[in-house]
Formats: sequence, structure tokens, C-alpha cells
Amino acid sequence: MTKTQTTIQTVSTPPVLARTFGWIANPRGLNNQKKLRHAVKDKIVLVTGASFGLGEASAKQLAAAGATVLLVARTQEKLDAVAGQIKAAGGKAFGYACDLSDIAQVEQLIERIIKEHQHVDILINNAGKSIRRSVLLSFDRFHDYERTNAINYLGPVRLVLGLLPGMQARKSGQIINISTIGVRVPPGPRWAAYQASKGAFDTWLQSVALEMESFGIHTSTIYMALIYTRMSAPTPIYRVLPGLMPEQAAHLVNRAIVEKPYEISPPWLKPAEITATLWRSPTRWIMRQLYRQTRDTQSAIGQNK
Ligand SMILES: NC(=O)c1ccc[n+]([C@@H]2O[C@H](COP(=O)([O-])OP(=O)(O)OC[C@H]3O[C@@H](n4cnc5c(N)ncnc54)[C@H](OP(=O)(O)O)[C@@H]3O)[C@@H](O)[C@H]2O)c1
Repeated sequence: MTKTQTTIQTVSTPPVLARTFGWIANPRGLNNQKKLRHAVKDKIVLVTGASFGLGEASAKQLAAAGATVLLVARTQEKLDAVAGQIKAAGGKAFGYACDLSDIAQVEQLIERIIKEHQHVDILINNAGKSIRRSVLLSFDRFHDYERTNAINYLGPVRLVLGLLPGMQARKSGQIINISTIGVRVPPGPRWAAYQASKGAFDTWLQSVALEMESFGIHTSTIYMALIYTRMSAPTPIYRVLPGLMPEQAAHLVNRAIVEKPYEISPPWLKPAEITATLWRSPTRWIMRQLYRQTRDTQSAIGQNK
């Protein structure tokens, strides 16, 4: 296996009860083909992380609504498969194999996309890597911090910087960032590498979004809760907690494109944020209990990530 190849694994369907509560606990998405078509028809939409999970589901829905989708991820065979399915359904898709944690590859990607498509109307910054591992297992794993930073923060920054000049010249563009609820509530134990890197991009984007607005570029951040994908699969408890199927999560991306809200988040997130700010000590107590009562998963202990 080369550095940029990844394993293709299937994700089992979670129980109905978990999916039902997941639907209740999450914001409503947009599943209106007419509205979506109006917003994306003939637009060029770049979806990072389009080979699996949310990115794959999102790319398929956008292509079905008439967008030309540029699929970016590392796994060439999966990109080919997704692009093939989109084309077979009558859509337009182009696959670009790229390791977004490698800045030289990101720069080549930008150059190639501008050469082949001239511009990008909508960027969906979705590719990401999560690591849940306690610090006691991380003494010799500085690379965990380097690689989460590279894919969740620096790669996306480089990509946005490469696409911004075109958006600025056209005085239009949309950037949808797939973030996590984790950056809005106090950091949970074992999530240091992931949350710090997702938080870094969230902060960066919030700042530049204010500047980009003045030249016609709109930004939306989706603070996602649990999605049943390859990413959450290694933590067994997540299979029974309330979550969204990737196709439902993609409806939130559709809503962001059509309605252009500044953010989309679960209805309970703001109350949770306020509660955690007002009651810091009890929140820290809960987090400490969480650390003591839970364990690292086999994949974290096995050091195979
Ligand atoms: N799943 C959840 O519960 C959850 C919760 C909150 C937020 N999120 C966020 O949702 C987004 C999508 O995650 P997901 O759950 O759909 O995960 P996923 O199924 O693991 O998909 C991640 C995607 O990112 C791509 N990717 C990973 N590293 C890459 C790299 N170095 N260069 C290029 N592409 C790379 C993967 O493709 P290759 O492996 O082919 O490169 C894959 O297409 C992420 O940003 C994640 O942080 C997920």
C-alpha cells in the first residue's frame, strides 16, 4: 500500500432507534430537487473527500441536480467508481486524486483545476481525518498532530487561497465548511489532535469570511454531529448513538448552498455551549468522568492509524 492509498471498508447500518433520534436531534436539511437545481445547475462544485461518506453522498446529490462536480480525495479507484456512477446517472463528474495534506499536491491540484475548468463556483471543504487517542498512547506519535493539522487545517487553507483569486475576480463564490460540534463545546478527552485542527480551520475561516463577504463570496459552516461513516465506525459506541446517514448529512450541505446561512448546527448546540460556559467546573467534572469511564478503541491502541 502506498502512502496515499487507503482501505475501502464497508460501514454497517445502525439501529432504527439511533437513526430516529438522530433525525430528531439534528437540524433539518434540504431535500428539494427544484431548489437545489436552481442553485447549482451548470455550476462547478469542488467536493473534497468525495470518495467516501458525506462527501460521496453530497457529490452525488449535487451532480443529480445539474452541477459539474470535481471529486477530490486520495483513493483513485473510489473516485473512479463515484464518477462512474454519477456519469451513468447522466451527471458530470471529474475525479482528481490528491493528498490534501501534501501542500505540493494541493498546489498542483489548483493549477490543474483552473486550467481544465477555469474557475470553481462552490467549494465544499469536507475531507478530514479524525483521531481519538489518549495522550498516554501518543508520547511517540507527534505525527498524529502533524497529519490532522495538515488535512484538517493547512491543506484546506492552501486550497481556499488558491481558489479565492478566481472567486474575487468573478465577485461570486461559496465556501461550505464541514466542521464539527466538537469545536463549539469544551474539548472532550482523547480528541486533542482532531479538535485542535478542526478548531484552527474554523477560526481561520470565520476571520477571512468577514473579509470575503465584501467581495461577494459567501461562507457557511456546518457544525456536524455524528454521521455514520467510515470515520465514526472505529468507535463501536457511535453505532448506537443518534446520528445521521451520509445522505441526510448531505441535505444539510444542500441547505447551506441554497439558503446561504452563516452556520448550520443542531438545535441543542447553542444551549449546550452557553451551559458549558456558565458552568465550567461541572462541565470539566463530566469530561473527567467521561475519560475515566471510557477506553481507547482497539484501532487507537493497535497504533494502526
Ligand atoms: N463522521 C462523523 O461523525 C463526523 C462528525 C462531525 C464532523 N465530521 C466531518 O465530516 C467530514 C466528512 O467526514 P466523513 O464522516 O464523511 O468521513 P470519511 O467517510 O472518512 O470521509 C473522509 C473523506 O476525506 C478524504 N480524505 C481523508 N484524508 C485525505 C487526504 N489527506 N487528502 C484528500 N482526501 C482525504 C477521504 O478520502 P480518501 O481516504 O480516499 O483520501 C474521504 O473521502 C470531515 O471533515 C469530518 O471531520 C464527521
